[in-house]
Amino acid sequence: MKQKIFASIGAGVIGYSWALKFALAGWTVYAQNRTAASSETCKNRIEESMETLVKNGVLPEEAAKAALDRIHYTTSIQEAVQHADFIQESSREDYKTKHALVKEIEKYAPAEAVIASSTSGLLITEIAKPAIHPERFVGGHPYNPPHLIPLVEITKGDRTADWAVDKAKAVYTSIGSEPVVLNKEALGFICNRLQMALYREVANLVLEGVCSVEDADKAVVFGPGIRWGILGPSAIFELGGGAGGVSGLMNHLGPSIDLWLNDMADWKSFPKQWAQTAQAGVNEEIARRPAEIGNTKESLQAYRDHMLIELLKLHGKL
Ligand SMILES: NC(=O)c1ccc[n+]([C@@H]2O[C@H](COP(=O)([O-])OP(=O)(O)OC[C@H]3O[C@@H](n4cnc5c(N)ncnc54)[C@H](O)[C@@H]3O)[C@@H](O)[C@H]2O)c1
Repeated sequence: MKQKIFASIGAGVIGYSWALKFALAGWTVYAQNRTAASSETCKNRIEESMETLVKNGVLPEEAAKAALDRIHYTTSIQEAVQHADFIQESSREDYKTKHALVKEIEKYAPAEAVIASSTSGLLITEIAKPAIHPERFVGGHPYNPPHLIPLVEITKGDRTADWAVDKAKAVYTSIGSEPVVLNKEALGFICNRLQMALYREVANLVLEGVCSVEDADKAVVFGPGIRWGILGPSAIFELGGGAGGVSGLMNHLGPSIDLWLNDMADWKSFPKQWAQTAQAGVNEEIARRPAEIGNTKESLQAYRDHMLIELLKLHGKL
């Protein structure tokens, strides 16, 4: 069988992690950066993340080495994409940069290659505007870091073809990601909207003096958050509703829920003071944590990655 080739264009924070994920799935990978110095940073990030996987018992050392050997670092877009089956663009989040890259990638990419953008919020219709073949452009929005978080939100532009969406879905599934296809374009996709709906109420509760930043974090982590890592909000309510399921729960609690909704924030933007309040609250929270579960930025990140890996193992995703 022909060796599959993946090109990660703009291998920064997100692009390095995509490169790692595809290499772990057995693909030959080209990680492209504009300078040799950025390529070096990318290589270091990949090696560090690989070491974390080995240390956490997810990957035998030989497998890690074989995956590292499948990754090529280049500053040439032509070299990266010329034989690629799947191309993921993770460059700067602006149309000017992405338009220039679209033109450059299409100059060299094979006709059947799908081109996905990691964009966090730009429209695929607009990104693909200068494309000769806009039908093969999709959004493939990951959550950071894509080599650990399985979700990818696939979005279509006005001219995206169904075959490109199907191919992107098949490719992401084959590397162990969990793609969700949006039926139509929506700002913030699915998960950023969900995260911000919750976070708006966190800010409201803290600013209203109901609880501290630390207690709001604790409430999510040891309450609904720990369940959401297993079943989504509707499936959890199906269980919470007993014999009546989610519909029974909504009918039963509906009048009470309406009272809460009426009392909750419905702001269209966050209050100006929130950024500062959140930072002060998080600083206090971190300082109070026992060292073994992370009480500095570095140790928190290591703790998060370790716990993520353990959870992913339970999900059969690592
Ligand atoms: N960081 C996140 O949490 C996150 C999550 C999901 C999606 N994204 C999206 O992923 C993409 C990359 O974000 P990131 O956080 O990895 O950024 P980053 O700054 O770490 O990496 C950006 C990459 O783009 C390259 N680049 C910058 N300017 C360029 C130019 N003019 N021409 C060509 N290449 C250029 C850089 O060399 C770098 O390799 C963005 O579209 C972002 O919205 C980011």
